[in-house]
Amino acid sequence: MMKILFCLLLAWVPSNANQYQNPIAPSSPDPWMQYYNGFYYLIATSWGSSVGIRKASTLDGLKSVDNTSVYSFDGHSLWAPEIHLVDGKWYLFYSACASDTDPANWGCHRNHVAESASDDPMGPYTFKADLIDPNDENMELDPSYIFINGEQYLMGSYNINGLANLFIRPMANPYTPTGAKRMLSTPTYDWEKEGETINEGPEPLYHDGRIFVVYSASSCSGANYKLGLLEFVGTDPLDSTHWQKYPTPLFQRSEENHVYGPGHNGFFKSPDGTEDWLVYHANDVNTEGCTMARSSRAQKFTWSDDGIPVFGIPEATGVTYESPSGEN
Ligand SMILES: *[C@@H]1O[C@H](CO)[C@@H](O)[C@H](O)[C@H]1NC(C)=O
Repeated sequence: MMKILFCLLLAWVPSNANQYQNPIAPSSPDPWMQYYNGFYYLIATSWGSSVGIRKASTLDGLKSVDNTSVYSFDGHSLWAPEIHLVDGKWYLFYSACASDTDPANWGCHRNHVAESASDDPMGPYTFKADLIDPNDENMELDPSYIFINGEQYLMGSYNINGLANLFIRPMANPYTPTGAKRMLSTPTYDWEKEGETINEGPEPLYHDGRIFVVYSASSCSGANYKLGLLEFVGTDPLDSTHWQKYPTPLFQRSEENHVYGPGHNGFFKSPDGTEDWLVYHANDVNTEGCTMARSSRAQKFTWSDDGIPVFGIPEATGVTYESPSGEN
């Protein structure tokens, strides 16, 4: 009888009644999230030698679940892990330092990829390949993966003469490069040069047949870390002149909402596939910089009449919003 009453009560709740507040998880810089087969999967920088994922059926549930280890490696200083589903398996791209390198020297970062045993995002994952460009063995970080006209490309950031550029590199599959990396974007505007001259964290965004890359600009150590936008407007993804950079930032600090240094984002769809959502990290005060104090936040975004993503301003923490459409 109790059970029947409970079901009747539930039937009165509108199906979209779920709510959430930011942050969605504490201590989770460089967040990346996917919604897959009924669950959200959130993965982030740990600075360690293992990778954890939070799995929950609701956005609001992520903060109360364990961050479960899915992969360990011989090395240290894990940054910016992402999982991408390619040909039925998940690939975990990450940057980290080899065990014989000095943790105080950030220049030790290189990109790598691990492979899941099945189509379960929780893995387990096993090491698959180093993704270092043999023509340039300097620092590489923030690996991501993009599909353009049926071809696959690795993206990331690399350090050259004290500044960070974005790169793009052709791949046969997530673990087999077919050529050298090419420059995708270099900082040009003043808003990309605050604190340090940096383009990093490139993330693919597809909409209505158009291909965008959203990236992070300036130094994460200041409050002016932010997001910028590139669009593929030509025929050759490996030629940076075939990409257009938008002249103004897409997303940046909000004094009003006490959100500082919002950036290094990812994208995910609502459970019913109708909404586009942004996941990103930010600080509550403008002095926390690139530390593990950065928490991850989610917010819905829209598109302009011209087909450009509109992220708005970073929402304040502790405010209740409606959860992604289609959550149970
Ligand atoms: C999440 O789990 C991984 C793997 O165990 C660990 O390395 C990382 O430090 C954890 N992150 C947090 C914020 O607890």
